[in-house]
Amino acid sequence: TNRTFTMIKPDAVKDGHSGSIIKMIEAAGFRVVALKKTLLTPERAGEFYAVHSERPFYNDLCKYMSSGPIVPMILEKENAVADFRTLIGATNPANAAEGTIRKLFAISMEANAIHGSDSDENAQIEGSFFFAHVDQY
Ligand code: GTP
Ligand code: MG
Repeated sequence: TNRTFTMIKPDAVKDGHSGSIIKMIEAAGFRVVALKKTLLTPERAGEFYAVHSERPFYNDLCKYMSSGPIVPMILEKENAVADFRTLIGATNPANAAEGTIRKLFAISMEANAIHGSDSDENAQIEGSFFFAHVDQY
């Protein structure tokens, strides 16, 4: 098995969808390795999304991601990164497939309910951003 990193974004937490989303994740065969509810400052959101610092939506994204509590998690499954991105659906909910988390819970391109790491390497980096000693979990 391998691991991916996810976080339920402020819109979905605020709207009370965390439980439904975690239920979908577990039903899809992912084991929750680590989980917490926390709040990012705009500066820490900026650090998390540093790869996007040159993109035009970067400032809005950092403001949005620090607008309310989030629920970061480390997940484990065979083929975790790719299977999880299939489960969440396209970045823009207008393009998300039926039955995906974003199709069900995303409000917009920005407030799109959930994050999923895009590579094994980033899953490791992003998980360690929120959780210490992850190898021991
Ligand atoms: P993540 O799982 O959150 O990383 O989404 P992604 O990999 O599907 O998208 P990407 O990494 O390209 O963008 C990161 C996040 O920035 C997205 O999830 C959106 O919340 C936001 N985002 C991406 N593109 C746009 C855009 O054109 N406008 C705005 N406002 N936000 C965007
Ligand atoms: Mg991404």
